[in-house]
Amino acid sequence: MTTKTYYLTTPIYYANSRPHVGSAYTTIACDAVARYKRMCGYDVAYLSGTDEHGVNIERAAEKLGITPAELVDRNQKIFRDLWKLLGIQLTHFVRTTSTEHARAVQTLVRRTRRHSPDAIYKAKYEGRYCIYDNLYVSDSAEPANCPLCGRPAELISEENYFFRLSAYQEKLLTLYQKQPDFVQPDFRMNEVRSFVEAGLKDVSISRKAIKWGIPWPDDPEHVFYVWYDALSSYISGIGFGEGPEGDANPRFKELWPADVHMIGKEIIRFHAVYWPAFLMAAGLPLPKRIFAHGWLLFEQEKMSKSKGNIAYAEPIVNAFDELAGAKVGNDALRYYLLRETVFGQDGNFSREALVTRYNADLANGLGNLASRTLAMIHQYRGGQVPEVSQKAKDTPGFGRFFSPEWSESTKKARVRILHSYDEFQFSAAAGEIWEIVANWGDQVLSTYQPWAKEPQPGQEWFVDALLWLVAETLRHVAVLAHPIIPDATQKIWEQLGQTGKLGDQRIDQLKWGELRPGTRVGRPEAVFPRIEKKEAVERMEAMEEEIRKGPAPAPKAEPAAAASAPAAPGATSRIGIEDFAKVELRVGEVKSAERVAGTDRLMKLVVDIGTEQRQIVAGIAAAYTPEQVVGRKVVIVANLEPRKLRGVESNGMVVAATRPDGSPVLCTFIEDVPVGSRLK
Ligand code: MSP
Repeated sequence: MTTKTYYLTTPIYYANSRPHVGSAYTTIACDAVARYKRMCGYDVAYLSGTDEHGVNIERAAEKLGITPAELVDRNQKIFRDLWKLLGIQLTHFVRTTSTEHARAVQTLVRRTRRHSPDAIYKAKYEGRYCIYDNLYVSDSAEPANCPLCGRPAELISEENYFFRLSAYQEKLLTLYQKQPDFVQPDFRMNEVRSFVEAGLKDVSISRKAIKWGIPWPDDPEHVFYVWYDALSSYISGIGFGEGPEGDANPRFKELWPADVHMIGKEIIRFHAVYWPAFLMAAGLPLPKRIFAHGWLLFEQEKMSKSKGNIAYAEPIVNAFDELAGAKVGNDALRYYLLRETVFGQDGNFSREALVTRYNADLANGLGNLASRTLAMIHQYRGGQVPEVSQKAKDTPGFGRFFSPEWSESTKKARVRILHSYDEFQFSAAAGEIWEIVANWGDQVLSTYQPWAKEPQPGQEWFVDALLWLVAETLRHVAVLAHPIIPDATQKIWEQLGQTGKLGDQRIDQLKWGELRPGTRVGRPEAVFPRIEKKEAVERMEAMEEEIRKGPAPAPKAEPAAAASAPAAPGATSRIGIEDFAKVELRVGEVKSAERVAGTDRLMKLVVDIGTEQRQIVAGIAAAYTPEQVVGRKVVIVANLEPRKLRGVESNGMVVAATRPDGSPVLCTFIEDVPVGSRLK
């Protein structure tokens, strides 16, 4: 029997900045899909990577005083480390600066020229282009702002290679008509269709002004436009580029076309219009499905570095692990992201809601059911799964749990859950699984209350059946929820005395009733210890602050997991004086101070820095009262990008030392010094 393959991709991420929870959203969702498909018996290939070319990489490197190659080397590692920390099971990671990728992109163009000689031509391009979103904003020289980020687009005028997208309008419309699920959700398909129906303009696919890119074959003055380069990663990463037609690699033949490209909604046009046209022109098969999910919003806007409203994933995972005293952070984040929002729609991110979900569904829900079940099996049955007697099966009411009808209804629930996974409706899948926790587990236990009194003589059959029932429920839940919360379900699996990796189980062949009596269960250990909300939110924010303050990790930095630990003196790599000179440190005087509502840690200050009064939010409220800081001279970092903390804009940073217990000590002066003086 040959194994079926399943190939799914996330976008490749811009390597100019550190990934945040919004970036991790696509990757976590795809990881759930990859795990699910593996559990259905597929040979799964799961690809992501880093988008390492383009003008914004060039500029980001320039700002840091390093080469683009150094920048992307450093940043791709941050991505890899984060995916490792989050337990993402990628099988392929593409870097667009690799030689294999460059060869694939050049081969794609050569192949296109052979298959469709008219598809690519050279012409003059003049227009407005957003360097931050790599988007052609308009084809005229008139000033224009980018519709995505709102910033002024730059004027570009040069000779380019163009792709004749206009010639693909009919072919694309036919594709959408024949394959209405090519783009999902449906409402996105409608948007794409309307866009194409309105008429397509040819697109420029090379650049002359930019140096940091893949050279155009036989015309190295040009480099590839980043989107042509980036989209090709979906094929280069699985071996395209070998042989004269590029498709000689056997793994490529096995995996292409992709089963799904999972993306965020803002890049749908590139995936559902440009990419299929590029592939048609090259005579290559098209991906089967493009699924565009919504945005993760934070403080009412799309979480994004340019807006400064970001939360990182590392502090969330690390704070949960630390406070729970167990490795629960990953599952907490995954569960929250996949459960809270209908996949496809926009969703809100909030640390408070994350902790609430964790405590309600994971600690009190599944975790509690697991500990109660195991504790009772130990207490009443010496740690062995009991057998269900005929008497239990024959008992009116109670006996239904052991009847063929019950078995059938569990099958129906499983079919619904699998269907939800197939449709990427993680929230519906999780909802249904937690119904099982509540209805087959918690409710059964509270109805029959085996712990209310010691089992009475003659009642053994009842306790046996009840314990088997909840243990079998738990086994079911562990298998079904594994794609969403892989760490805890593996623990539950082992606690139930099951062997091997849960990920190797066939979710599509799960059957009710297969928990073997006599199985020895493990010690009940809390899989999701409860955590205190206020403390957790503050710890996440404090750890987040450490990441923001900390130096950008050097190429050989510690894994991201360790990024929040205070650095030992002398542990960081040295910087040149020119790097230090970039930081504008000034003397400021605190004019007013008040606590930020809803947190014990943050204080809003107005600081006079000589030239102006700045509003700065500082994490000092647990150590100082507002009265203690007003009138005090402090040191501030004056040239930091503004950002929001708890919705309050902070325009700079107050410098403080950190004691071993984490509390801050403000930096101040003994001698008098004028406000606004620069520190160097
Ligand atoms: N490099 C391009 C993709 C090229 S694919 C051939 C890119 N990179 S990105 O880093 O900006 O985005 C990567 C993914 O993260 C996208 O799917 C994007 O939608 C997703 N997200 C980034 N911020 C997000 C949110 N705040 N919310 C949800 N997803 C978001 O685009």
